Amino acid sequence: MKLSKVWLLMAAGALAWAPVHAADVAAGKAKAEEACADCHGDDGKGDDESPDIVKLTQKEFVTALQEFQSGKRNEPGKMQQKMVREAKKLSAADIANLAAYYQTLK
Ligand code: HEC
Repeated sequence: MKLSKVWLLMAAGALAWAPVHAADVAAGKAKAEEACADCHGDDGKGDDESPDIVKLTQKEFVTALQEFQSGKRNEPGKMQQKMVREAKKLSAADIANLAAYYQTLK
């Protein structure tokens, strides 16, 4: 009885741990539809105001979002300010999931 309880806790721990380490494309898609598609489009290719984010490499994608979050990329432009606000709502797991999802749209 005691031993099985330990296994159960370990299994639950592994489940909670997993999303941080393995990018989840389905979660990235859900987040993209909810938070990014309004500006970057359903296909991620952007429009006159928002850039194409599908053409970025996974690394460029993650770096861009991290720079919006850290303030490294932060100019007074109205549209960029909106992007900065969006980026600040994302967790590290969100960014990894979104990066993996947008790679699938290439
Ligand atoms: C309000 C409109 C808007 C929303 C919503 C939005 N973005 Fe953006 N995004 C922009 C604009 C505008 C830029 C260009 C900013 C600049 O001038 O650097 C941009 C830039 C980016 C870039 C950098 C592109 C490059 O070429 O360097 C990435 C990556 C990005 N957005 C991802 C996302 C993701 C992921 C989401 C959803 C969580 C999102 N954006 C939501 C408007 C938006």
